[in-house]
Amino acid sequence: MPSDEGVPARRAALQMLDAVLRRGQTLEAAGARATNLVPVDRALASAIAGETLRRIPDLDALIDSATKQRLPDDSKARTVLRLALAQKVGLGTPDHAVVATALPLVDGGPRRLVHGVLGTLLRRGLPVMETCRLPEPVEERWQAAWGEDVVLAARRLIARRPPLDLSFADGAASDEFAQANGGRSLAPRHVRLESSSVADLPGFGTGGWWVQDLAASLPARLIPTLAKDVLDLCAAPGGKTMQIAAAGHRVTSVDSSESRLGRLRENLQRTHLSAELVTADALLWTPKRQFDAILLDAPCSATGTYRRHPEVLYRARPRVIAENSALQAGLLDRAAQWLKPGGALVYSVCSLEPDEGEERITAFLEANSGFELQPRAADELPASATANSRGWVRVLPGLLEAEGGLDGFFMARLVRKG
Ligand SMILES: C[S@@+](CC[C@H](N)C(=O)[O-])C[C@H]1O[C@@H](n2cnc3c(N)ncnc32)[C@H](O)[C@@H]1O
Repeated sequence: MPSDEGVPARRAALQMLDAVLRRGQTLEAAGARATNLVPVDRALASAIAGETLRRIPDLDALIDSATKQRLPDDSKARTVLRLALAQKVGLGTPDHAVVATALPLVDGGPRRLVHGVLGTLLRRGLPVMETCRLPEPVEERWQAAWGEDVVLAARRLIARRPPLDLSFADGAASDEFAQANGGRSLAPRHVRLESSSVADLPGFGTGGWWVQDLAASLPARLIPTLAKDVLDLCAAPGGKTMQIAAAGHRVTSVDSSESRLGRLRENLQRTHLSAELVTADALLWTPKRQFDAILLDAPCSATGTYRRHPEVLYRARPRVIAENSALQAGLLDRAAQWLKPGGALVYSVCSLEPDEGEERITAFLEANSGFELQPRAADELPASATANSRGWVRVLPGLLEAEGGLDGFFMARLVRKG
């Protein structure tokens, strides 16, 4: 094989890991900058970086078992070793390719050290990683908030490739699709498939469905059926707007990001659904009328999406969570003013941090006596997908685990007293 075959993808993976771990970027943003690569190499680089981020604590334990002196956490040698080992464990890359593509990354640097550690570990044989420890601060936080069983479930789930969930505009079409494609429906208008290529699935072009984790489809199910005029606040790229529009409500979708609203526009075109789109910062914008219902799917640390986006576990530092909580409180205060008496405000976050969920709603209710929690009715959400207490809905790692699991989520429906 030519001497640098496979190296550009690994070099890009190294840069992506650096962008995520040192500069706090998302993997998607870091991957989008690898414009010098052909698509297949870019996809490989993202896959390697993703497999590495899933397993850092366990990979580090392996590396430490083969070095006399502990390598600094942010040293290039450790990062190269992490990504080399992640390929073996997560992607099944053969030993010779693991070594041949790792060493050029440390040319002129700790090449002998990296070669020695890789040789030792590959000869010893790498363990099958059926669970992956999460970063220590995250495990401590989730242990304190949710207990050991939830941490253990999250360790098992992050090691598995999550299934593919589709949402449908039409309930009959979802049942048909599930039958025809070996899928399983866990809720109305939902189909779960073993992961496969989205573009190859029937109906993508004609827009009968869109990709949406089952947990992410739950908040829009709490919009009251009788609400005519609905505001979807923080709406892009639009999974929830499409659900609300498909359910027959009139939707106004607001988001501060023009580019993300562009994706929402494309999604609506593809699915033949409609909504009024507004580009605005919801902290500054004021609507001209009040609404029957508002969905506020607030920006958050997104730690509930740790299975598909393991970098969130490194980005969600306490300062980031505190900044998000302040923004969420501001958005809740704004949204509360735009609701008709008797109207419903559904608040949701794809976060496993109580600061962004339970604590936000508790603080809101303490400060706003004109609102009360309205618990879900028995038939509104699939019972197996939700743990319920105090009238809000909390989706934790471990729920529906045998079926492939769910993203972590929090949602609450508040009603403005009439
Ligand atoms: C969790 S995402 C929304 C996902 C979306 N609801 C869906 O189902 O596809 C949060 C969104 O909030 C938007 N956002 C952040 N701050 C905002 C603000 N001050 N005003 C309006 N939108 C904001 C972001 O651009 C992002 O699209």
